[in-house]
Amino acid sequence: MFPQNILSYCWMVFIFVFCTMFILYRIPTLPNFLWNLISYGKVRNVSGRGKPSKKQTWQSKLDKVLDVPKRWFIHFYIVSVICNSFLLFNLISVVFYNGEMPGWYLDVLRFLTNYPLQNPKASQLSIIIVIALLLIQGVRRLYECLVISSYSNSTIHISHYILGLLFYAFAGINVVAEGPELTGKVQMDSVRQLAEQLEWFHVAGILMFLWATYHHHVAHKIFAGLRTGHKDRSHRIPHGDWFELVSSPHYLAEILIYASLIIVLGFQHSMIYLVFFFTLANQVFASISVHEWYRQKFDNYPKGRKAIIPWLL
Ligand SMILES: NC(=O)c1ccc[n+]([C@@H]2O[C@H](COP(=O)([O-])OP(=O)(O)OC[C@H]3O[C@@H](n4cnc5c(N)ncnc54)[C@H](OP(=O)(O)O)[C@@H]3O)[C@@H](O)[C@H]2O)c1
Repeated sequence: MFPQNILSYCWMVFIFVFCTMFILYRIPTLPNFLWNLISYGKVRNVSGRGKPSKKQTWQSKLDKVLDVPKRWFIHFYIVSVICNSFLLFNLISVVFYNGEMPGWYLDVLRFLTNYPLQNPKASQLSIIIVIALLLIQGVRRLYECLVISSYSNSTIHISHYILGLLFYAFAGINVVAEGPELTGKVQMDSVRQLAEQLEWFHVAGILMFLWATYHHHVAHKIFAGLRTGHKDRSHRIPHGDWFELVSSPHYLAEILIYASLIIVLGFQHSMIYLVFFFTLANQVFASISVHEWYRQKFDNYPKGRKAIIPWLL
């Protein structure tokens, strides 16, 4: 069902790794270095886990070297904005101005994926819309990191950081890999000609993207509001909007955002399913660990609230 190429094998490995984390997380005697590898952010400080004993000072030093500040998330969105702006600019140049994709980019595309496909799985319009949506997502998150979010000193393992950079750098390559060939042969005369490719699923996917984006943004505003007017950077119980239903509405919204891209691509595009399953695996894992962390930390945590799927999980 899934394509055979280097990029898709990488996705499958990472999806497998995140599924393995569900099992590792349940092991109470997990060695500290593994706990630090699989946990991140506020969850790392859960009831003594990940704190090395005094005898293990060499290990605590190593752990510190391998940690980076969680506020470095901003680098992901800088990478995303650069890569997707480059891609969108070149796609428009190819489609309307007889332009060519840079040779090195096509080499990377051929090396990592099955590009070019004999029967492309998405139209030019689908590809352009999805890259534009990825760009919008990157710009919004960059804005939130710069202007809205308020970070504590929490950390992430460097492997999460590197994986995040790769994720945002390669997300767009997955999309164009199964689209039409990126040569001047596809040149169109006008936006109207491109608009003739419009289908119901483009409209449905964009509406879902906007709906999920709105709630994603609201969740980050609520988080930031919890620290407004407080000198300390401690964590509190969030309330409002989807927080009334789940502990991590921003992770739920992220999953919906990637689901909306599957819809815009007309359900035919196989690489986007891998990107979606990667997001699903890591966001569900993160939400479960966050949910348990809240319940352990706050005695008055709302009982009916689920981790990520309202009323279910
Ligand atoms: N597509 C993917 O594969 C993927 C993977 C990972 C993340 N993401 C996305 O990236 C975004 C950020 O993820 P994240 O894991 O960094 O989210 P997060 O841990 O919930 O943190 C988001 C922000 O809210 C603050 N915060 C969190 N809980 C708080 C609380 N109880 N009280 C006060 N402030 C709180 C955090 O501060 P601290 O500095 O204290 O943490 C941080 O500034 C999310 O929207 C997520 O969907 C996507």
